[in-house]
Amino acid sequence: MKLSSGLGPRAYGLTKKTILLIVTGSIAAYKAPELIRLLVKDGARVIPVLTKGGAQFVTPLTLQTLAEEKSYSDLFSLTDEAEMGHIKLSRIADLVVIAPASADFIAKMAYGLGDDLASTLLLANKKPVLCAPAMNPQMWAASATQDNIKSLTKRGVNWVGPVSGDVACHEDGVGRMAEPTDIFAAIKSHFTASSILKNKKVIITAGPTVEAIDPVRFMSNHSSGKQGFAIAQALALAGADVTLIHGPVCLNPSPRIKKTIAVTSALEMQKAVEAALPADIAICAAAVADWRVKQTQDNKIKKAATPPTLTMQENPDILLSLATHKKRPKLVIGFAAETEKLEKHAAAKLTRKKCDWLLANDVAKHAFGADHNQILFLQKGKKPVSWKEMSKQDVAEKLVQAITTFFK
Ligand code: C5P
Repeated sequence: MKLSSGLGPRAYGLTKKTILLIVTGSIAAYKAPELIRLLVKDGARVIPVLTKGGAQFVTPLTLQTLAEEKSYSDLFSLTDEAEMGHIKLSRIADLVVIAPASADFIAKMAYGLGDDLASTLLLANKKPVLCAPAMNPQMWAASATQDNIKSLTKRGVNWVGPVSGDVACHEDGVGRMAEPTDIFAAIKSHFTASSILKNKKVIITAGPTVEAIDPVRFMSNHSSGKQGFAIAQALALAGADVTLIHGPVCLNPSPRIKKTIAVTSALEMQKAVEAALPADIAICAAAVADWRVKQTQDNKIKKAATPPTLTMQENPDILLSLATHKKRPKLVIGFAAETEKLEKHAAAKLTRKKCDWLLANDVAKHAFGADHNQILFLQKGKKPVSWKEMSKQDVAEKLVQAITTFFK
């Protein structure tokens, strides 16, 4: 079906991009037509999907007139299923956008329910998802909603907003949907990143290394791998060809990550990194043990009158070896975990490790394993920039943006 929106000549920034726009039951649904208008004007094909709740606030006719595409809402429609089944709807999209995403719909996504067209096609969906929540501030702050957001973030869902401001029920706080122009900008930056990073080969190290003392005992550190995994996921979502090499962690890597290699010791990590070269980008987020025991014992060291003396040996410096490698990736990024004099130590490390960028964090403030991080971002030849405290996923997004700009 072709209906005219009468928008006149188009710029073609999003040409050949198909966006499945799910509009759910929130008052902010009245802003969905404006989002469609911006996307269509930029050349995108927008296929609207309206939930029952969404249809209380905006009509299918409005959406399909602006999109110049049929609007879908019924899971059991014989004609719709014959024309374009719910599985096919999720297959033809390059990106699924949910704007507005109500608290109820977010909960459905988190629990994998499929009781209407929108939730069912999301279950069948393999494409990136960008979600723009909109709800009352108390509903947004509710532990149930926040737990759902966390679990969806882990599965790779991206977010834009919500923002702070007056909501329809006249309460103030975070819960208002991001403006259509901001959602449009997030969609554009998703596609910019994916065209620039598509197929770029990235090696990421994450988590701790574990150095055996004997078959029973070991030395390690408190690294959880959360930051490295978040970066690997964000880069994979942006289309990069990611190899994630990680020490022992309690995390599941996103299925979008092309290759995941689990290692234990620094020597094993070094070997895996070496085998993964060449690459365009290397990001060393792992907390590699600086030393290992010189002589690992084959049998358990027995308790004796005097404690054993362990002789240590230095581990290879993986970051330095990558930065000075004959197959050096074009962009080498390190992390620094410091407990004092963050800027001074980080600047010295950037020089010593010969890497291009360094993300320094104060682990005395943000303990290993936390969900948030605060980064001091150092680039060779530039003044350090302090990033505000944010989630590890947001740090990953910010880093992906910086990498995208670097390769532009
Ligand atoms: O020297 P330090 O361990 O503080 O350096 C931190 C950075 O160096 C991190 O990016 C870490 O992954 C990397 N590193 C490494 N190999 C080591 C020690 C640290 O790659 N043996």
